[in-house]
Amino acid sequence: MVLKNGWVLGMSEFVFELRYDLWRLPTFEPNLTYPVHRWFHFKEGFSRDLVEFLIKRMGLEEGNVVLDPFVGSGTTPLTCMELGLDAIGVDASPLMALISFAKTRLYDAEKLIAESERLKSVRFRTHDLSNVSAFVRRAFKPATLQQLLSLRDEVRGIEDRDVSAFFTLALMSAAMRCSYVVKEGSIVKVVKRPVPELLRTFWSKVRQMIDDVRKIELRSGPAEIYMGDAREMKFVGDEAVDAVITSPPYLNKIEYTKVYEIEMELFLGRSRPNLMRSYIGLFPKSNRVPQEAQGLPDSAVAYFVDLEQSLLEVLRVLRRGGRAAFVVSGGVYPSIVVDVDLILARIAKRLGFDVERVLAMGKRVATYERVKRIGESRESVVMLRKS
Ligand SMILES: C[S@@+](CC[C@H](N)C(=O)[O-])C[C@H]1O[C@@H](n2cnc3c(N)ncnc32)[C@H](O)[C@@H]1O
Repeated sequence: MVLKNGWVLGMSEFVFELRYDLWRLPTFEPNLTYPVHRWFHFKEGFSRDLVEFLIKRMGLEEGNVVLDPFVGSGTTPLTCMELGLDAIGVDASPLMALISFAKTRLYDAEKLIAESERLKSVRFRTHDLSNVSAFVRRAFKPATLQQLLSLRDEVRGIEDRDVSAFFTLALMSAAMRCSYVVKEGSIVKVVKRPVPELLRTFWSKVRQMIDDVRKIELRSGPAEIYMGDAREMKFVGDEAVDAVITSPPYLNKIEYTKVYEIEMELFLGRSRPNLMRSYIGLFPKSNRVPQEAQGLPDSAVAYFVDLEQSLLEVLRVLRRGGRAAFVVSGGVYPSIVVDVDLILARIAKRLGFDVERVLAMGKRVATYERVKRIGESRESVVMLRKS
C-alpha cells in the first residue's frame, strides 16, 4: 500500500520506507571528505552522514549513550563525539579495534607535533627478517620493509597509548600505499609496480592527520572501544545504552581477515587471537536453525544464528524504549537472494523487539556469474525498539 507521501508502503508484514534517494549513506564514500573519518579507507563501512541521519531519526540527544557492537573503522562513535553523544564501540578484529581506538581519541595537536620531531631524529636499525612471512617480504621493497619495521617498533614504544595509536595508524596507511599489494574485493595480490617512498608518504599522512585533529570539532569523548564479541558483551551492563547503530558483516561478502592479513601481521603480530571463531556467520555457536532461516543455505543459517545472538545481547544492554538500527544487505547465492532485512526483522520481533520500520536505501540487480539474473538485493536499515 502506497501512502500519501509516496515513501511508505506496506511490503510483507513490516512497514517499508523506500529511501533510494539516500543510496550513498550506507557507503563509505562520503567519509573520504570528512576530517578523521578519512584516516582509514574501510570499504565495508557506512558513512558519517548515515549515523547523523539515524541519530536525528531516533531523537537522540547530547549525553545519550550509543553502542556499535560491530564498530569497524569507528564511524558511529566518531560521529557521536562530533554531536556530543557518548559512545561505545566493539569489534572482534584487533585491527578494527585499533583503528577505531585511534580515530576516537581527544588529541592534543602540539603533543603530536612534538612526537613527530622526536621520531624524525630516530636512527633506523637493521631487522632480522626471518620472522617475517614470505608474503609480507614479497609485498615491499627490502629497504622499505627495513624502514617500516624500525618505525613500527619506535611507534609501538611510545608510552602514551593514544599517541602510539595515532602514529601506528599513520604508518599503516603509508605502508600500504608504498607496498606492492593490490586489493580486489576479497583477493589480495602482490603486483610489482612503481610505489611511492615510505618516509615521505608517512610524514605527509602525519601532517594531514594533525591538520584533521585541528579541523574536527568534538563535543564529547573519548569513546570506549573494546575488542570483543558482539554476541557476548560482558563489559557492557544491562540496560546501559540508549541506542544501537550498527552494521554486522554482510552475508556472503568480504572475508575481512584475509584482506587485512598484511596489516595484521605487521602491526598486531602473526599470532592470531581466536578471531575466526568470533567472526559472525562462520562458526555458529549452536546447531539450532532459527525458524525464520529454515531452508536457507548453511552459511546463511549460520549467519542468522549469530545475528540472533547479537540481537539478544542488544536487547539486554538497551534501556527500555531504546532504539536500534541495523544496517544490512541482501545475500546473493547462485539461485536465490536472501532478504536479510526481512529475516532479521522477523527474528527481532520474535525476540521481543518492536519493528518500527525498514528503511530501504539501496537496491541492485543480483546476478550469478554476471549473466543470470537472480533477483534484487536490498540494502536497508532495520529500525527496532525495545518496548
Ligand atoms: C560491516 S563492518 C562495520 C563497519 C562500520 N559500520 C564502519 O563504518 O566502519 C562489520 C564489522 O564487524 C566485525 N565483526 C565480525 N564479527 C564480529 C563479532 N562476532 N563481534 C564483533 N565484531 C565483529 C568485523 O571485524 C567488521 O569490522
